Amino acid sequence: MLRGTLLILALVATAAAFDDFDPFIDIPFKAIKTSAERIEAHGYPAESHFVETPDGYVLNVFRIPHSPSLNNGAQQRPVVLIMHGLFSCSDCFLLNGPEDGLAYNYADAGYDVWLGNARGNLYSRNNTRRDVKHPYFWKFSWHEIGSIDLPAMIDYILEVTGEKALHYVGHSQGCTSFFVMGSYRPEYNDKIKTSHMLAPPVFMGNTTEGLIVATAPVFGTPGLGTTLLENQVFLPQNQFIQRLLDTTCSNQPLLLSYCKTLALLWGGPEIGNLNATLLPQIAETHPAGISSNQAIHFIQSYASNEFRLYDWGSRKNLEYYGVAEPPPYDLGQITSELYLYYGLADGSANKQDISRLPELLPNLALLHEVPDPTWGHLDFIFATEVKKVINDMVIDYSKAYDEGINKN
Ligand SMILES: *[C@@H]1O[C@H](CO)[C@@H](O)[C@H](O)[C@H]1NC(C)=O
Ligand SMILES: *[C@@H]1O[C@H](CO)[C@@H](O)[C@H](O)[C@H]1NC(C)=O
Ligand SMILES: *[C@@H]1O[C@H](CO)[C@@H](O)[C@H](O)[C@H]1NC(C)=O
Repeated sequence: MLRGTLLILALVATAAAFDDFDPFIDIPFKAIKTSAERIEAHGYPAESHFVETPDGYVLNVFRIPHSPSLNNGAQQRPVVLIMHGLFSCSDCFLLNGPEDGLAYNYADAGYDVWLGNARGNLYSRNNTRRDVKHPYFWKFSWHEIGSIDLPAMIDYILEVTGEKALHYVGHSQGCTSFFVMGSYRPEYNDKIKTSHMLAPPVFMGNTTEGLIVATAPVFGTPGLGTTLLENQVFLPQNQFIQRLLDTTCSNQPLLLSYCKTLALLWGGPEIGNLNATLLPQIAETHPAGISSNQAIHFIQSYASNEFRLYDWGSRKNLEYYGVAEPPPYDLGQITSELYLYYGLADGSANKQDISRLPELLPNLALLHEVPDPTWGHLDFIFATEVKKVINDMVIDYSKAYDEGINKN
């Protein structure tokens, strides 16, 4: 794990040593396929939408309106919004293709599928009021993703589709941000039919994720380390790193372990059940760029053993929150129907921490431990068995909900 960290640092340092390196000029839309292009390449219809948040961020949201196997395309369908994790983007639910990809599986089951992108990732790096180079462009963590981006995307999707509520599936940070929304913007719980949390990092005191544990002494509490790194783009998807990954991961079987290390850094210590043929594609689309504050906020969760707002240090906390300690999120506000899924080999969202959740959640419908003891953080998206172990189950629960409504 530490090896992975050093590797990334070396990579970024190498990139920075190049004259033309500018971490901010880096939206390689031409170098890679967009989510819409990936969807269309498999014969599914795709749409690309732009959602502007109240604070000006422009989020690129993709849609598979229906499966090509379902002929009446214009028919009203139940809606699902699928949200990616840290360092990731909408591509992650598409990479394993129509057989195993959650987005395709939902479309084939009769759903209108939307794929979100959080502010700052390679699809959502635009703001109508602030240039991407503005020092405050990157002043956000998953608090803003959960309290601003998710509500904006949900409102937009419900308006376009004419639906009153939707299903939600999140992976990793896609869950953390959902927990933020449900507790901080509780009025949104009524817009959720069911929500499926795949590997949710909420409480993190027991995390064994190496990057978090190793950096906690520096970034776990406000201080010089945090101040230096705060409010910046972290691991941007830029053409230099892109090219390096493309060449190293696509053509060199000998370097597969190097590429695995990159995937590990993003996904946690268990390579476990990962479909290795996907690694080049994973490396091509990740890391998709985050604000350093997102990572710091997770490290704070580990250090404090609490799920609470971003810690700016007591002086700024007083200014922002009116109290010296960041207030905790009130999980008792999350009234939407919650389904939790976790793996025993997952260092970031592990059983001990997840076991604190049930008594705090008022409407928990399912707490599911994946039976395979080797199931890790990334397996929820990329395992060879993901359809059978996760996707079918999530979709069955969604359908049961919709069929229940139709009966009443
Ligand atoms: C791995 O993913 C590729 C690409 O989607 C797919 O063709 C292959 O069948 C998968 N391998 C397994 C063992 O599922
Ligand atoms: C940012 O979004 C605005 C509003 O949608 C758009 O007019 C502008 O072209 C976008 N800029 C970039 C660089 O994509
Ligand atoms: C670890 O998990 C246990 C059980 O849920 C919890 O009581 C404890 O606070 C957690 N954190 C640490 C640092 O032990």
